[in-house]
Amino acid sequence: MRSFLLLLVILLARPGFSQPTADTRNLLPVPTTVRWGTATLKPKTALRPLFQGPPDSLTAAAVTRTLARLGLNVPARNQSAASLPLQINYGKVGRAELFDEERYSLRVTPSGITIDAPTSLGVLRALATLEQLPQAAGRNVLLPEVDIQDQPRFAWRGLLMDAARHFMPVSVIKRNLDAMAAVKLNVLHWHLSDDQGFRVESKTLPRLHEVSGQYYTQDEVREVLRYAAARGIRVLPEFDVPGHTIAWQAAYPILASGDTLYKTVYQSWRLANVAFDPTKETTYQLLDTLFGEMTALFPDPYFHIGGDENDGRQWRGNPRIMAFAKAKKMLKSDGRTLDKHALQTYFNRRVLTILTKYHKQMVGWDEILGPGLPKSAAIQSWRGKKGLYDAAKAGNPTILSNGYYLDLNLSAANAYGTDPLPADNPLTPAQQKLILGGEAAMWSEFADSVIVDSRIWPRAAAVAERLWSARDVNNTADMYRRLAAVSRQLEGLGLQHRNAPEQLLRQLAGPTDVGTLRTLAQVLEPVKEYKRHFQGFTYTPSTPLNRLVDAAPAESDVARDFNCMVDSLRIYTNSDSYGPIFLVADSRRTALAMRQQLQTWQANHSKLIPRLGSSPTLTEYAPLSAALSAAAALGLERLALLEKQQQPDTEWQASALKQLDALNKPAGQTELAVLPAIRRLVELR
Ligand code: ACM
Repeated sequence: MRSFLLLLVILLARPGFSQPTADTRNLLPVPTTVRWGTATLKPKTALRPLFQGPPDSLTAAAVTRTLARLGLNVPARNQSAASLPLQINYGKVGRAELFDEERYSLRVTPSGITIDAPTSLGVLRALATLEQLPQAAGRNVLLPEVDIQDQPRFAWRGLLMDAARHFMPVSVIKRNLDAMAAVKLNVLHWHLSDDQGFRVESKTLPRLHEVSGQYYTQDEVREVLRYAAARGIRVLPEFDVPGHTIAWQAAYPILASGDTLYKTVYQSWRLANVAFDPTKETTYQLLDTLFGEMTALFPDPYFHIGGDENDGRQWRGNPRIMAFAKAKKMLKSDGRTLDKHALQTYFNRRVLTILTKYHKQMVGWDEILGPGLPKSAAIQSWRGKKGLYDAAKAGNPTILSNGYYLDLNLSAANAYGTDPLPADNPLTPAQQKLILGGEAAMWSEFADSVIVDSRIWPRAAAVAERLWSARDVNNTADMYRRLAAVSRQLEGLGLQHRNAPEQLLRQLAGPTDVGTLRTLAQVLEPVKEYKRHFQGFTYTPSTPLNRLVDAAPAESDVARDFNCMVDSLRIYTNSDSYGPIFLVADSRRTALAMRQQLQTWQANHSKLIPRLGSSPTLTEYAPLSAALSAAAALGLERLALLEKQQQPDTEWQASALKQLDALNKPAGQTELAVLPAIRRLVELR
């Protein structure tokens, strides 16, 4: 086969494929340095915790938890059972809200385990790493010999949970705190008020929670705070003002700038653009009362006041507010138009005065940044990187969330590729220090307490790694491999990210086999970004989230796996592109797996039709089921040519691509996630 030498090799390598992969095993986030040994800890030997001094109760409890999860605790019945030491040395009890150090070292040797850390926070992070170390070896689970030195790249690594749009019971928050701890996230940003609800019991202004129905009692808040603190997680409460406040206005109409009297919390997801009246002293008196109460309830030194999405229309529409603005010289240079930013900055400064009185540092969304904002206020950037860098340049501490919005249903790779401080960032070293980190954000218009886990996990873990690990830890394929391991780990911790969609599918399948419905659901994804609001179906806070779109993964593993298979096909072809083509050996196996997958998809529709037809909630998804079948048929045609060592003729290819384009139509606010991969298969030459 000397003619092979004349063949042109087309290497369709996926990005990142050719990079050397460090031996990361199942560790996520990847630690700073890891040196694997060759030995293992003796299997089936319990670990006996030994502390340098008397441990604090939280650290002792965390160690007990980890050993129980590993199944390596000394049995209560047999305290003299053989055991190896788990030696734990730490300097002081660490406090996450004070940015205490999280650095640790973790050494596993055949004769025991040692954790060293300056603070108990480091011990917690070491335990999280330890929980990811077990490796299957035949029927045994082994802890490998290893020496790990680790510390976070960013001090602020958060997850925003929105309990205002859909209420999230304490149990939901707690299990998500467990998941956060597993991937070393350390800030729960708790979005507690919005147009649709005010979710904390207020003893001073009780109508706030009463009009909202579901809320956390103050005892429940304290329970969450304790649970978080025990995991080294700080809790940042957000009470969004002056916009996003219909719930407040329904309780206390005196706060309103507009004429609308809201009798209930907002029953819509449309951006309301209401705002408090920033000119009335009563507004600040009420805020002082509430923030006095809430700053005492929440111990974190930071306090989030929102500040986003007030377009000023209610202020412009109120003659009294306009007169106030005029008197205070808050008009634009034309002398007539409101300088909304100036008026909001006035409001922010008043709020800042209140928070300063209660010894809190203010955090707000990037809209609050502007001339006159004191440098002590921290900025959370959601609209772009610009806000992040502008804040740092202005001397304000800042946090990135743009790129980490989980509710937009973008891929984990997308978030993973978003670095708060890429190598080419425009900041000076001093400004870079103001980038505290970032937060994944899970806004809950389309996530209730049942399915919220599946919208957060495992993708939030990709953000966790971006914020903890070094900048050059960026092999996306390896991230996805470890994400799958984390996903299994989180199931073990009680997260419902896989169970809940599966249960929903079973409900939807009714008495029929869930398998065919699952085959379809697994390759669907909800439409991206904010499109779900604009596809002919009007959602409100009371719309049940129990349709196929809610069971569809935010990012389809099956579609991504299929895409990886297309990527990995290795073809030898003549340079004139009409000569013989050959699939390299491995690719033949891949092609076989692809054929089986495509055949399953092609055959699925006819099996699913009866159920799709008989269930009113499923009927709307019939076009996607048919499209999957048709797209799979085209994929099979292309694969058959490949297997026969034939190139497709250009007419067939053009026609197939046209058909695929026609199939690319969302239905029921979902789209077929596998179409791009099938398209690339068809395009292959
Ligand atoms: C936001 O997403 N409006 C902060």
